[in-house]
Amino acid sequence: MKVSDALHQRISCRSFLSKKISKRIIKKIIEQASKSPSGGNLQPWKTFILSGEPLKKLIKDVKKELIKYPKGHVTEYKIYPDNLPDLYMKRRYKCGEDLYSLLQIKREDKENRIKQFKKNFNLFGAPVGIFVFINRLMGYPQWSDLGMFVQSILLLAKENNLDTCAQESWAVFHKIVHKQVKAPKEYMLFCGIAIGHMDKTNVINKIRTERANIDDLAEFFGFED
Ligand SMILES: Cc1cc2nc3c(=O)[nH]c(=O)nc-3n(C[C@H](O)[C@H](O)[C@H](O)COP(=O)(O)O)c2cc1C
Repeated sequence: MKVSDALHQRISCRSFLSKKISKRIIKKIIEQASKSPSGGNLQPWKTFILSGEPLKKLIKDVKKELIKYPKGHVTEYKIYPDNLPDLYMKRRYKCGEDLYSLLQIKREDKENRIKQFKKNFNLFGAPVGIFVFINRLMGYPQWSDLGMFVQSILLLAKENNLDTCAQESWAVFHKIVHKQVKAPKEYMLFCGIAIGHMDKTNVINKIRTERANIDDLAEFFGFED
């Protein structure tokens, strides 16, 4: 598969079939993703991968906590900055609205919006969850390395006919994930990655997001053609 095809075909999958995935495939994907570049070759990433009973337990624990804290706990890092400038606010808003309109959930229908949000915490039905951590000492450059590592996992999954959804929503239950995977104290949870086979019959997976025009994201200087 060409990289451009994997990039084109990957979408955030929000409904999975329960079909299992072997440890061998996940291991191969993580091993290959570890070829991602990182400043000074620090490789500042660490993953914990859950399936079967341990995943069920995590989902059960989080489900219980969601009753007390429907929006989750205080996160360890800010998922979005305060006062997002208009440009980004509009994109964020559109991202949510496109999803909810596909599901025919209106803006005022808070109950169903929350219900949809909560589906994050059963990994949208995926059989495997990859939880991505970083040593909490790390700064912006290493967080950007982490992003490259995550992207490699998403694209390699596509090459293996698997679908994914990166999920920073897990950051609101970082303590529960931390405890379940027995992560060392110095590690901080960045995100979960739901991975599995897409349920193509679910309308939610029909979403196709837009991107800014090339002229808005790249300015070129000194070219002759
Ligand atoms: C690091 C990261 C975290 C994300 N967290 C969530 C999440 O918690 N829940 C969710 O439904 N989508 C999540 N997304 C998916 C984004 O909303 C999605 O990538 C974006 O809207 C572009 O759509 P696409 O992935 O289908 O191209 C996340 C994506 C990234 C890269």
